[in-house]
Amino acid sequence: MANDSENLLKKVISHAKEYGFIFPSSEIYDGLSAVYDYGQNGVELKNNIKEYWWKFMTQLHDNIVGIDAAIFMHPTTWKASGHVDAFNDPMIDNKDSKKRYRADVLVEDAIGKMEEKIEKEIEKAAKRFGDSFDKKMFAETNPRVLEYQKKIDVANERLKSAMSANDMAAMKQLIVDLEINDPISGTKNWTDVRQFNLMFSTEMGSVADDANKIYLRPETAQGIFVNFLNVQKTGRMKIPFGIAQIGKAFRNEIVARQFIFRMREFEQMEMQYFVKPGTEMEAYDFWKAKRLKWHQALGLGTENYRYHDHLNLAHYANAACDIQFNFPMGFKELEGIHSRTDFDLKSHEKFSGKKLQYFDSESNTNYVPFVVETSVGLDRMFLSILSIAYKEEKISGADGEEGGERVVLSIPPALAPYKMAVLPLVKKDGLPEKAEEVMNLLKHDFRCYYEDKDTIGRRYRRMDAIGTPYCITIDHQTLQDNTVTIRERDTMKQERISILSVKEKIQKLVSITELLKKI
Ligand code: GAP
Repeated sequence: MANDSENLLKKVISHAKEYGFIFPSSEIYDGLSAVYDYGQNGVELKNNIKEYWWKFMTQLHDNIVGIDAAIFMHPTTWKASGHVDAFNDPMIDNKDSKKRYRADVLVEDAIGKMEEKIEKEIEKAAKRFGDSFDKKMFAETNPRVLEYQKKIDVANERLKSAMSANDMAAMKQLIVDLEINDPISGTKNWTDVRQFNLMFSTEMGSVADDANKIYLRPETAQGIFVNFLNVQKTGRMKIPFGIAQIGKAFRNEIVARQFIFRMREFEQMEMQYFVKPGTEMEAYDFWKAKRLKWHQALGLGTENYRYHDHLNLAHYANAACDIQFNFPMGFKELEGIHSRTDFDLKSHEKFSGKKLQYFDSESNTNYVPFVVETSVGLDRMFLSILSIAYKEEKISGADGEEGGERVVLSIPPALAPYKMAVLPLVKKDGLPEKAEEVMNLLKHDFRCYYEDKDTIGRRYRRMDAIGTPYCITIDHQTLQDNTVTIRERDTMKQERISILSVKEKIQKLVSITELLKKI
């Protein structure tokens, strides 16, 4: 991670804590690794993201309905889904630093470093040759670049084959051959590579034997699969149709870092779209395009999203891609879109002995539907918004603002924790009473923040820091002509308008419905 991006992530983490967005879990006991609590502002932003997703998926698609399945599921669910046998990450320890790593990530990082070396060679050559530089030709003929590329290809191939054959000895050998050092101790004193199952387990009931072992769900999707027929029948759903769900998922991640990007307890927003076999690619392309549009409508910059198509598909998938976001750590997965064939439903049929089939009244046939899944991490959405929204700015002192510096969170107004602040200029002369009147007029439609302490400049700064898009200031003129000043967060521009037109002016600008209309 480059220094600037590392700094940005650090600043976002400390800002999120200072302003009540995210706290380390059980902080008074020094926290719990990769577990976080959302504070008073964080929970509002999170709820708004959920509403934006839920309304888009269920309200704007009349063939999609939602459910809320339990976190605990029958243990056989996880046998059928493949999680008991295969939801593993390869782990390795360094004997000197005593640090634990994901072996595949160590290899990927080493490959990343070789790729950086190629980029550097290309940069150097581009400077040397100037306008006449032919990047493609250089990359295809320069001996050093070719050597790095060959090493990369071999490493990728060995990684792929070790992972798919579940061959942990080959994985260890690859780490040895690539001469990978522990970033902390600097040594190559590694243990063997072992598979580590990421599911958390606990016991249900009072007898702690194996039969009572149950898991905390590692994805919400299985709650949808096992309810497929319940929803289809009771909702009289016709294929194609979708089932959406927002809920907690738990994974005992080996390397949990990068704040809320990789957590041990997190939330997913998932939708399974059930289609007729043979039509799944059409649905896959449809959802791939739709989900990107949903992200882009937030206005965080279209350049910050890209697709990453999976070349190595899981055995049950016939197409898969990620929507990656330009996080402070670089482009990383934000959402996954997977065409999962009939793998899950067929497997649940086999393990439960119950039919999970759809009766197609047009063709008079029964079949197991194919599934296209969209799965986005709520916490990763939160981080994507916060890291783009965070800005440090110098203020000239114009427009009635105090000069100096400010930190502003330019959160999309529809998702901001508070839509406006109501601020009496001074705490006397009847201004607080007038401000209360204004609050009463607006609080049914908008989440409003009231504050009468401190200078108005400091109060603006605090509202900027939590991303409140509008500040309504009540001053002495308000008492005479019922007008207020309204200040916009990003431009800091102020204008004087009648109290009665505040609602009309702001409503569309902070509305999730209006945001949804852009998609
Ligand atoms: N049902 C499919 C599934 O769970 P996944 O790619 O493992 O697929 C989907 O997860 C999304 O869940 C990811 O794109 C990511 O946004 C989020 N996610 C996965 N693991 C996470 C973790 N440890 N912490 C935070 N978010 C996570």
